[in-house]
This record gives sequence, C-alpha cells and structure tokens, in this order.
Amino acid sequence: MKLAVIEGDGVGKEVIPAALEVLDAFELDVEKVPLELGYDRWERTGTAITDDDIDILKECDCVIFGAVTTPPDPNYKSVLLTIRKELDMYANVRPIRPLPSVKGIHDRTDFNYIIVRENTEGLYSGIEEIGEDVSTTKRVITRKGSKRIADYASKLAGSRTNKLTIVHKSNVMKSDKLFLDVCRQSATDAGVTHSDELVDSFAYNLIRNPWNYDVIVTTNLFGDILSDMSGALVGGLGLLPSANIGEKYAFFEPVHGSAPDIAGRNIANPLATVLSLKMLLEWHGDIAEAAILEEAIDSSLNLGICTPDLGGKSSTSEVGEFLANHIKTRVK
Ligand code: NAD
Ligand code: IPM
Ligand code: MN
Repeated sequence: MKLAVIEGDGVGKEVIPAALEVLDAFELDVEKVPLELGYDRWERTGTAITDDDIDILKECDCVIFGAVTTPPDPNYKSVLLTIRKELDMYANVRPIRPLPSVKGIHDRTDFNYIIVRENTEGLYSGIEEIGEDVSTTKRVITRKGSKRIADYASKLAGSRTNKLTIVHKSNVMKSDKLFLDVCRQSATDAGVTHSDELVDSFAYNLIRNPWNYDVIVTTNLFGDILSDMSGALVGGLGLLPSANIGEKYAFFEPVHGSAPDIAGRNIANPLATVLSLKMLLEWHGDIAEAAILEEAIDSSLNLGICTPDLGGKSSTSEVGEFLANHIKTRVK
C-alpha cells in the first residue's frame, strides 16, 4: 500500500504520529509518503497546497490525514476542500458508534448509525461573491451529485438494516427537493425502506433518540453539522472517525479539526484518527488487522488508558504506545 500521510496543523501533528505507531505495529507492507500541507506551510511558504501535491496524492492508494487550520481568509485555499474536490471523493462516511466504558449524553448505548454526507457540492460549491454589503454563496445541488451519494447510501443501508433516512430542508430550499426526489428514487430502486425528515426537527430527534436511526444521507453542510453534534452522543469529538470515498481514491481523517485550544500539549485524543485508520484497514481488505485494532482500543478504554477528554490521565503518545504494544502481542 502506498499511503500518503498528512499531519496538517495543531493536534494533527500529535494524533498522526500516534496513529502511525499503531499502523507500524502490524508490520504491513506500507510505503509512507509524507506531505506537509496546511496553514503552517501557508504561513511559511505562501501556499497551503499546490497542483503538484494533488499529483502526488493521486499516485498514492489512500491517505491518512490529521487536521488543518482553515482561516476565513479569501486568499487561503482550503486544503481539505481542494483535496475532496480534486480527488472527487463524493462520499463522506461518518460512523457514530459508542465505545466500551465511554458514556455520551445518554445511558443507553444501543445505537450505531452512519452519516453519509455529500462531499463535493451543496453550500461547499466554492461559488461565492464577496462584497462590502452583500456576500453570497451559491448552493449547488445536481442530479448527478445527488444520485451518486444516494446510491452509495442506499447500498450501505442494504448491507445493514435496510433503513435509510433522507435529511433535507426542501420546505425552504427548493434545491433540496431535487436531492430528496433523487434519494427517494435511489432507495426505492435498491429496495431500501426509507423515510425523510427536515433537518431542524431531525437534529432534535437524532440527539434524543439516536437508536431510531441507521443510515442517514444528507447534503454537505447538514452532514458537517450533524456529525459534530453526534460527538455528544459518543463522548466527544476525539472519538469520531471518517472516510472520504470516491471512485478511485480514499482518504481517512478524524471528524475534528486542529483543536488550537489543546494543541502542543500531547493531550489530544488519538482515537478518532486511530478509528479512521481502522476504516482504512477495512477499506483495504485488512479485516483481521482491523479486528485486532478494535480489540486494542476496547482494551485501552476498559483499562482507563485514555486522554483527559475522556477523564483519563494518559497522553496522546501513551495511548498510541499502548495500542501498538497490544497489537504486537497479537500479530506475533
Ligand atoms: P475542533 O474540532 O478543532 O475543536 C472543537 C473542540 O473539540 C475543541 O474544544 C477541541 O479541543 C476539541 N477536540 C477536537 N479534537 C479533539 C481531540 N482529538 N481530542 C480532544 N479534544 C478534541 O474545531 P474548531 O475549534 O471549531 O476548529 C479549529 C480549526 O480546525 C479551524 O481552523 C477549523 O477550520 C479547522 N477544522 C479542520 C477540520 C479538519 O481538518 N478536518 C475539521 C474541523 C475544523
Ligand atoms: C470537516 C471540517 C471541514 C468541513 C472544514 C475544515 C473545511 O469541518 O471535515 O468536517 O467543513 O467539511
Ligand atoms: Mn466539520
């Protein structure tokens, strides 16, 4: 496997080394291609990402990514959005699942749902006019873009409980009527049981009754917001992994950002990134390794070896080291 490794900024520089220690413990045949991208590089060199970087990424099989700082500066080209678009990774898959010994806001832990977020259009079209008194962002919903994410979500639902929830705001934004219609058709064609909810009341229902959902498909910004909100259900943002998937490329990253409020202290929770690594292993077909990794994570949490966000006393690197040592005893 040729794996591009992007630490990025802030806690990205801490959680990626921990995840790599975990990966190295498997002694898989992995060629790592480190790339320095993001805000720190922009400050130093004036570019956060270039076409050459995209070419390098396209030559890799997949990517593991930490986090980047994205300033609201019109001259700054967002690394993440550029990569998602250039590599056409249209599906942002965000599983929400409680881990052992970690409580979120509910006592019940019998939920397990996946947000499938459209990743290339919607309010992230990048088509903007910024003026002194009026600024606009164009929300783009296409039939093609909606169909491919709907088909992805329907297929995923078919492999689970065959239940799909379509989340939209078509009462206000008619662009979402197209999204809704295409999703309904896709689910019907796939033989998947489906329903739809308006995003505002859906957010209320999801946080109150997460066990009522399985696969959720939605547009770009709604998926962004609903996934961070879901962090409250599993015990924090430091626990949410994600995969960005396209026809050709795959890119794995924690849902969280560069966390400047805790960066540089070796206390960021590496599990969101380690769980993203687990998604990478599964995607690559390394199913046995993924299972061992899951077991290592469960063991660390059951022993209370975790970072302060989960009430523990361990550092980022200590969690990585524990997981790596556990894996070494299992793969030898
Ligand atoms: P954030 O996700 O970085 O942090 C939100 C809160 O969660 C903070 O209190 C932080 O300390 C906590 N947190 C995040 N990751 C954690 C971890 N691994 N362990 C423990 N606590 C963790 O969101 P923000 O503060 O709104 O954004 C900071 C920067 O990150 C911004 O520039 C934003 O644009 C960028 N961002 C990048 C990504 C990405 O690279 N994928 C995602 C979201 C935000
Ligand atoms: C995420 C992040 C990104 C997004 C930002 C950093 C561009 O919040 O991956 O959830 O909005 O998609
Ligand atoms: Mn986000």
